[in-house]
Amino acid sequence: MANKFVQWMDERIPMTKTWNIHLAQYPAPKNFNFWYLFGVLATLVLVNQILTGIWLTMNYVPSADGAFASVEFIMRDVEYGWLLRYMHSTGASAFFVVVYLHMFRGMMYGSYQKPRELLWLFGMFIFLVLMAEAFMGYLLPWGQMSYWGAQVIISLFGAIPVIGDDLTLWIRGDYVISGATLNRFFALHVIALPLVLVILVFLHIIALHEVGSNNPDGVSIKKPKGSVPDEEKPKFKFHERFTKKYDIVDAIPFFPYYIVKDLFGIGVFLFFFCYVIFFNPEMGGFFLEPPNFQPADPLKTPEHIAPVWYFTPFYAILRAVPDKLFGVILMFAAIVMLALLPWIDRGKVRSIRYRTVLHKLNLINFVISFVVLGYLGTQPATALATLFAQIFTFLYFAFFVFLFFYSRREKTKPVPERLTS
Ligand code: HEM
Repeated sequence: MANKFVQWMDERIPMTKTWNIHLAQYPAPKNFNFWYLFGVLATLVLVNQILTGIWLTMNYVPSADGAFASVEFIMRDVEYGWLLRYMHSTGASAFFVVVYLHMFRGMMYGSYQKPRELLWLFGMFIFLVLMAEAFMGYLLPWGQMSYWGAQVIISLFGAIPVIGDDLTLWIRGDYVISGATLNRFFALHVIALPLVLVILVFLHIIALHEVGSNNPDGVSIKKPKGSVPDEEKPKFKFHERFTKKYDIVDAIPFFPYYIVKDLFGIGVFLFFFCYVIFFNPEMGGFFLEPPNFQPADPLKTPEHIAPVWYFTPFYAILRAVPDKLFGVILMFAAIVMLALLPWIDRGKVRSIRYRTVLHKLNLINFVISFVVLGYLGTQPATALATLFAQIFTFLYFAFFVFLFFYSRREKTKPVPERLTS
């Protein structure tokens, strides 16, 4: 019966073929490590956000009069409403944790280099949409920080010459942030952006499976056809789509090997995720900020406005520059630089394992600058904090400039022919 059903389906839609190409007979390099877990974790968090979001929408009221109270209603009266909300708010931060680690993995192993440039660009678009999604979601509880955070960020567009004022008016739909702004952010947060996100993730995976996964050695598992003796080829069956043009070496099928590994990783991740949800949902004010437990008050500006932690590196860059327009340009440039990495890095060797000490130090410099800027973005902009923000903004951009110059003539270590482990 089951076979007949599969056959009936396969004659109408490529069910088995898709399963084989993308899972069962997808050749994955056999040396994937810890860093290769974050793609699947990002997918898990995406599903969590969509599902908990749908259920939250059932009781949330998208109006300036009703929003704050409806969130309190969800927290206190809706059965398991508190769980849904904490899964969603914790999921938002978890999303950025896993996506930042996922991107860093790409930087370590040169996964953005040829032929994976488009895959990287899809990733960067995902990152941009994710930031817009998180920003709009944060307005919805209509707390003090929702209101004033949105006020600060939207007013940034006012710095754009000529069209700035009209643009901010168009985004808000009003002269100040109001119910009209809340309504449109709700529409975008609940349907438009998640749809774009899902489509982009789909394209991201299709692009990945077209060129194949990179790995911690940065060495290709595809060798020219006929160059590898049969006894050295893995004894697994890979789909002919992968073996028609190349000899595949040092690979194992994604199913069951990496499914098992990923399930273990998901289990460990859920320990941390559940700890936050059940024991520390506010995470010391980093995941849910204290002023957001007060309803939005357009007449009372909070003493200290700071975005949620995942925006703070970019916020610190913005504040480091005295001129508003130049600050906005530099903040966007910080993201554009990441998107341009495939072209900024002119090196031929992918993995950090075989690159120079200079490159390793430069990457450490990038991480330190990003983390310190993230910390500074959470602090009040005192003279000293601003000075440090300027120094670390310089170091952040220096990473890209240095990389552009040394990468072409880098004296790398010899790269092995085949995977090392
Ligand atoms: C919703 C967010 C995202 C999801 C669900 C997602 C999903 C995935 C998955 C499942 C993989 C394969 C497994 C793995 O290598 O970990 C992957 C690979 C990859 N992703 Fe993402 N991704 C996301 C965001 C991003 C972002 C923001 C970037 C970078 C700008 C990025 C760049 C890459 C790269 C370069 C690879 C290939 C890595 C390699 O083969 O070494 N992804 N992604």
